Amino acid sequence: MSNYYDGIAPLYDVSRPLPSLISEQVTDCILELVKATPETKFLEPGIGTGRTALPIIKRGYSYTGVDISKEMMDELKRKLHEVPDNLTLIQADASSLMFEDDGFDVVLTTHVLHLLPNLFQGLSEIRRVLKPSGYYLACENLQTQHQKDFEGQLRAMLAPYQEKSLQTTQVISYPSPYGEELAQVLIQQGATVERVTAARWQVEQTVGELLDAYELRPYGVCWLVPENIFFQVMREFRKWCLERYGSEDVVLASEATFEITVVSNWA
Ligand SMILES: C[S@@+](CC[C@H](N)C(=O)[O-])C[C@H]1O[C@@H](n2cnc3c(N)ncnc32)[C@H](O)[C@@H]1O
Repeated sequence: MSNYYDGIAPLYDVSRPLPSLISEQVTDCILELVKATPETKFLEPGIGTGRTALPIIKRGYSYTGVDISKEMMDELKRKLHEVPDNLTLIQADASSLMFEDDGFDVVLTTHVLHLLPNLFQGLSEIRRVLKPSGYYLACENLQTQHQKDFEGQLRAMLAPYQEKSLQTTQVISYPSPYGEELAQVLIQQGATVERVTAARWQVEQTVGELLDAYELRPYGVCWLVPENIFFQVMREFRKWCLERYGSEDVVLASEATFEITVVSNWA
């Protein structure tokens, strides 16, 4: 059982930073949304390095994390030094959860649904293990406009070299497992769906910092082509950035957000 996250586990948090104040703000919002009590039991399929989970775990809530990648969960364990009694970590596939029906008050996912081979099976497993009175929170830490622009440009420059056989992320299911399209699927299944912005914050990065981040190949887009081609395209991309921005020292500022699709009455 392995996936490409095994290889990037040590780079994951540095390449997707969530400032600790924002993380606490997101946690406050989550706990309020689900009306958490000391008995509230959380499950997070695709827990990864625990970016969303860590502050909830530290506040003492019962938390079960499932992930296909042991390496990603090892990063979470490293941050905790030792696994506390309120945390259970299981290496398993989120498409087939080993829990009995109606066992959790809250199921939470962040950037995982698009990785499941079958979106509907993944959702049906979440629904099965969620109590009828429970909440499913589909979380998204959205990129800034500059990050989206960078990724879009790099993707376009890589496209001519791309070999389908080398794609590392699975094909995105249709409908999209995020935003409005996910909401429509859940509403059709009878759920009540609300979209909440848990946090907004300003991100400032120089052009050089953004480029350096891609050089480490921590994002799916960087794995669409073999290594030698990727670095060749990165050299072209640096030149393109110099022409566009004038210098790698130019600071780009834009807003990042943490959005939550809150699903209830999904019995
Ligand atoms: C983009 S990361 C998100 C990690 C974490 N939720 C976060 O927001 O930082 C996706 C995670 O889902 C895990 N994953 C991918 N496919 C999975 C599957 N079928 N079952 C369980 N975990 C899976 C990966 O190993 C990785 O840790």
